[in-house]
Amino acid sequence: MEHLLTLLEELSTCPGPPGGEEPVAQLIRHYLEPCCETRRDGLGSLIAEKKGTSDRPRIMLTAHMDEVGFMVQSITAQGYLRLQALGSWAAGQLPGQRLHIHGSRGPVEGIIGAVPPHFKKGERGELKIEELLVDVGASSPEEVESLGVRLGDLMTPVSRFAVFNTKLLANKAWDDRAGCAVLVAAMEELGRHPNTVVAVATVQEEVGSRGAVTAVEVAKPHVAVVLEGPPADDLPGIAKDSPQGALGKGCQVRLYDPSTIIHRRFWEWVTELARRRGIAHQIAVRQSGATDARAIHLAQGGIPTVVLGVPVRHAHSHNGLIHLDDVQATLALATAILEELDEGQLKTLLPA
Ligand code: CO
Repeated sequence: MEHLLTLLEELSTCPGPPGGEEPVAQLIRHYLEPCCETRRDGLGSLIAEKKGTSDRPRIMLTAHMDEVGFMVQSITAQGYLRLQALGSWAAGQLPGQRLHIHGSRGPVEGIIGAVPPHFKKGERGELKIEELLVDVGASSPEEVESLGVRLGDLMTPVSRFAVFNTKLLANKAWDDRAGCAVLVAAMEELGRHPNTVVAVATVQEEVGSRGAVTAVEVAKPHVAVVLEGPPADDLPGIAKDSPQGALGKGCQVRLYDPSTIIHRRFWEWVTELARRRGIAHQIAVRQSGATDARAIHLAQGGIPTVVLGVPVRHAHSHNGLIHLDDVQATLALATAILEELDEGQLKTLLPA
């Protein structure tokens, strides 16, 4: 428990926007090196293999390391930075928030600015990322440069880990560091398993699962389990009917999103396994979004893939919330799959 909390705090605090996942990769490697054989692929995904009592099946257990972030797109004559979004952000949530700009002299803080309502004469309409500016306290491009900041530098939200009401955890980047924490804990705790587990921490999911496309070629799995931090829908106004991703209600088993129809026999086996072991879970049929399953299930002639998630409230913002019980339920279900999915079991899930 104590260790899981440490993992969650360290991983969510670590900066890792798409294309800048190195600090997260080093942290995960630090934890997995003692128990796994680790390597990197050409885009930077970390692959950590643990052989059990059999070479087959190879199970890919995967989570993405990147969080939504930004890149310095340009520097104005007055010394402001413009933003290129890396992943999807709601521009309206950004003004007044701080960013870390990861420059050559270490992180520099800036405040995101937009034209305040006082100066907007009745103009309405949705704010766009292109209208935002980052204020680092500089008044010219030269001053920006003297801070070690230049075009192409990456940016992440300034946030802070905190525990709310005993079991709710606040910080940035729960999508998908919650998944990364489950990945690390599952590999560390894994006892006897009748298969070979290939843990993969992918890069660049938030810009279209690019890391998963290449990592799956290196991991060469027969079956895959994707660990995600999907958006919770238990905030008033989101779900028309019952929530399918409520905090504290357990591991979310995602059956569908526009990118992937999850292999039916596989998820039926997984939900049955959860019932058998008394693991809290909730089923989701998502009408938007995508995960690394999109790339993985289409690779190598087709790979049965399931998606397990720790619901994240206020995802893709500076401050998200997750529930510790959901992290533990997802860890328990992922571990149960690794303990029970052998060659014979996999055969019953595949098309005959
Ligand atoms: Co994600």
